[in-house]
Amino acid sequence: MGGLHTQGRVLSGMRPTGQLHLGHYHGVLKNWVSLQQTFDCFFFVADWHALTTHYEDSGIIAASVWDMVIDWLAAGVNPGSAQLFIQSQVPEHAELHLLLSMVTPLGWLERVPSYKDQQERLRERDLATYGFLGYPLLQGADILIYGADKVPVGEDQVAHVELTREIARRFNHIYGREDGYEAAAEAAIKKMGKKNARLYRQLLKRYQEQGDHEAVEVARALLGEQQNLAISDQERLLGFLEGGGRMILTEPEALLTPASKMPGLDGQKMSKSYNNTISLREPPVAVQEKLRTMPTDPARVRRTDPGNPDICPVWQLHAVYSSDEVRDWVREGCTSAGIGCLDCKQPIIDSVLAELQPLQERAREFEADPGRVRAIINDGAEAARAVARATLEEVRAAMGLIY
Ligand code: TRP
Ligand code: SF4
Repeated sequence: MGGLHTQGRVLSGMRPTGQLHLGHYHGVLKNWVSLQQTFDCFFFVADWHALTTHYEDSGIIAASVWDMVIDWLAAGVNPGSAQLFIQSQVPEHAELHLLLSMVTPLGWLERVPSYKDQQERLRERDLATYGFLGYPLLQGADILIYGADKVPVGEDQVAHVELTREIARRFNHIYGREDGYEAAAEAAIKKMGKKNARLYRQLLKRYQEQGDHEAVEVARALLGEQQNLAISDQERLLGFLEGGGRMILTEPEALLTPASKMPGLDGQKMSKSYNNTISLREPPVAVQEKLRTMPTDPARVRRTDPGNPDICPVWQLHAVYSSDEVRDWVREGCTSAGIGCLDCKQPIIDSVLAELQPLQERAREFEADPGRVRAIINDGAEAARAVARATLEEVRAAMGLIY
């Protein structure tokens, strides 16, 4: 892994709790497709996360997993550039979750905003469970086990990445101090060769005496290039530079995905719970029917009544799909009653159909070849496990679990 994508590692997960729709496509998948070109990406089906809320109707999870993977592939997520896998097929996540739970203060979990929010919002479910309280930490384990640098998430998940950073820091602080730490760092510096060792010491000085953060970045790159330094030595020297303990776990950064502007058929955000979605596999006739019957400005009772695009859900779709020319035509035609609502909707219908057509075609190809989809997921799980196992070995060793 690595090599090709020098910008770092990206990890993200999605819960399998139903069909994917245009909101997922515009809000998440297009972003993944673009990230996979510049980062080492790990994208996984968060089936254990789905269980934290859907433990009583867990059937929906298995029913959604494969369709979700097919939708990812259909949307252009490329198994040649990203590792795709299912969380529960990498049980290492669970071990790291358990080990991290030992050092996670209860208050940190109780304070995560989504804990109380979701309990309020999903009142029909009993979420006073151990698993639900711990799910942000499970997410932390998902992230830390791959040493992910960047985590693309929506606004609602930023607090989880922040918690993950705090856990990583706490872990490194408690377990990153080894006996003979300085001597080990000195020995590692010598392994870099004279020239690089001198450069490293200069950067160390620049950071420690002047707080020069750029020096840390340069040193990080320098360490990354050292072929004859083991990963553990690289991490030791990075930790040495930053003055803390050895960096065993990497602090990730949230990569805030701009809030999806994808409106649903009623003008609210597109979401399964509002029943206002167009799914990625929606048959073209159904797409047409849904758009034709979606509400418009109620003032336009008759074709001759002028309307106001600003209060019309169709206008929001024009904002996503239409050119300036089309939008001018809508404004003019709507406010003067020059066009009817069906006329107005036609360009949207055309755009959505054109957008979904190639996607649905690819989905059909994958549907017809489940063996290929399984192979992609198996390969992804294997690659993921190799990375996860290496992290766990370091974590176990740092915690003294070596016998
Ligand atoms: N919790 C995320 C959600 O509900 C899904 C998720 C699980 C995730 N683990 C993750 C996202 C790790 C980013 C990184 O949408
Ligand atoms: Fe909405 Fe278009 Fe009808 Fe105006 S013409 S009310 S913008 S659908």
